[in-house]
Amino acid sequence: MAYVVTSSCVKCKYTDCAEVCPVDAFREGKYMLYIDPAPCIDCNACVPVCPVNAIYDGEKVPESEKEYIALNAEMSLLPFEKVPIIGSDGKKDPLLTARKIDEIKANPLEKLLALQLARETL
Ligand code: F3S
Repeated sequence: MAYVVTSSCVKCKYTDCAEVCPVDAFREGKYMLYIDPAPCIDCNACVPVCPVNAIYDGEKVPESEKEYIALNAEMSLLPFEKVPIIGSDGKKDPLLTARKIDEIKANPLEKLLALQLARETL
């Protein structure tokens, strides 16, 4: 199963993941990136470079993050004008709201709000 971007990406968008993807599988929303499951080759390159541990092997997504499996797939079906591909040359500064992993873990309520923001397109 393809890899999946989950709630820790929301309001962060560090984009290190897109930079290392060999098949340009990442798509960009307003507050997070998604992995298009069609081109993803399960290479694992993106997992260790995400500063907030937002990416999981699709088979190992935590129970509390399972909705993001469908979300990544659904958002990747939207037109490129709304959810463009972000390729290996697409590294950007993180959002001003980006946090560190400890800050994210300290506020579990953010996970609930994240799912709403996760569907916002550019
Ligand atoms: Fe998001 Fe981590 Fe990539 S914060 S944009 S999944 S490097």
